[in-house]
Amino acid sequence: MRILIKEIINKENQEVELKGWVDARRDHGKLIFIDLRDRSGICQLVFLPKEKEIYELANKLRSEWVVKIIGVVGQRPKGMENPAIETGNLEIQVENLEIINQSETLPIGIDTDGYEIGEDVRMKYRYLDLRRKRLQKNLRNRVKVIKFIRDFLAEKDFIEIETPIINKSTPEGARDYLVPARLHSGKFYALPQSPQQFKQLLMVAGFEKYFQIVRCFRDEDTRGDRQPEFTQLDLEMSFTDQEEILNLTEELYLNLVRALYPDKKIKLTEEGRIPRMSYKEAMEKYNTDKPDIRSDRNNPDELAFLFIVDFPMFEWKEAEKRWDAVHHPFTMPKFVMPKTESVEEFWNLFKKDPASILAHQYDFVLNGYEIGGGSIRTHNPELLMAVFEAMGNKPEAIKEQFGHLLEAFKYGVPPHGGIAPGIDRLVMLLENEPNIREVIAFPKTGDGRDLMTGAPSEVSEAQLKELHIKITGEK
Ligand code: AMO
Repeated sequence: MRILIKEIINKENQEVELKGWVDARRDHGKLIFIDLRDRSGICQLVFLPKEKEIYELANKLRSEWVVKIIGVVGQRPKGMENPAIETGNLEIQVENLEIINQSETLPIGIDTDGYEIGEDVRMKYRYLDLRRKRLQKNLRNRVKVIKFIRDFLAEKDFIEIETPIINKSTPEGARDYLVPARLHSGKFYALPQSPQQFKQLLMVAGFEKYFQIVRCFRDEDTRGDRQPEFTQLDLEMSFTDQEEILNLTEELYLNLVRALYPDKKIKLTEEGRIPRMSYKEAMEKYNTDKPDIRSDRNNPDELAFLFIVDFPMFEWKEAEKRWDAVHHPFTMPKFVMPKTESVEEFWNLFKKDPASILAHQYDFVLNGYEIGGGSIRTHNPELLMAVFEAMGNKPEAIKEQFGHLLEAFKYGVPPHGGIAPGIDRLVMLLENEPNIREVIAFPKTGDGRDLMTGAPSEVSEAQLKELHIKITGEK
């Protein structure tokens, strides 16, 4: 039965069966040494010329061939140990070799960290690029981060609920990816920019504590920290306030780093807390709403988390000549407590000075990157309607776009709020990577292409016909 390479450690003088890839081959005099690799590590195989048949077969082996071997685990001769690998004191004298599959010479090297190789060719051969140690580590650690989050939140009585991928769009400030509806000519689904409305509806549904590790889609220009599809930890709570959400986020992230990345130095306040700063102070002092407050930016293992609070509710969009929500329209203006005169008070303030209205909004920042954002939501449907109107939406359009939410809020909606930290950016920073493509298995290029599959690609006339779509070719 096959065992993993790392399991040979306690199997001295025993016969083992291994399967994996030829990582490297070295010939010393008459001996052939093969480094065999599987998902657990590397070990050295030795082929002696006296085992003629196997030796001749071994002579054919080249890098990345897939093999099965049976052999006996033994100590390496004194002075021949390799402390750089876990099995470095051991080697295996091969008694049986089977070549399962051959490999052509790889188009890219996989024995380095890969930064020196052009990204185009790395993306084209991503399945080979992913064989390199660094990317194996990044993806294995990414899932440890996600598992930690899931376990932590489950322990705190949160429930993970999946929400639709093809549905109606929620505005998060980017363009939607649209999906034509075959059964409804001329109509479209949108891929979610986030599950914002659904998580709020789950609060109406009485779940109280929801989270989801969820893919979000935004058609915007890709950058080092931005992909058209990315992953959020999306979270929402009922009967909560800003303090509780920030404290929960703080506890989760500090515990996560301490458990999974114990060598990182976390910059905290004297009280051992994640510092908080108002939007105003951040802009005045650092001229950005995501300041990098590390003590030493050359130290790759320093983590400086920061919460930015008291964002303005609205910003002026010159191109559209209207006030828009800084976060999203569901965010509660700061002066509003659940009291009846808040709608009138809102209009008074909005007419006087829209820019002065603050929001129950917070951003989560790490080393100068925005790694999360959230808010307490407006749960009074009249106030929500007023906010939509203030942003220049006509009542008919509001009803068409958000009628379901306003309707839901008529039936006993609990006060609620939440946050959505990005997983890709967090893992990028924890792994000291320069961009999020290094922590995503199959990322897109800057202009949104997948160089391996060739997506996006044209589709057949028949498919277009079924969808009632004509390509005009006009730009
Ligand atoms: P927001 O739009 O601020 O909030 O997004 C939350 C977090 O998601 C990450 N993020 C991205 N990561 C990679 N590529 C992208 N294109 C990208 N866009 C966003 C960032 C960001 O901080 N529904 C609200 C949350 C809420 O109010 O609860 C939302 O999505 O880390």
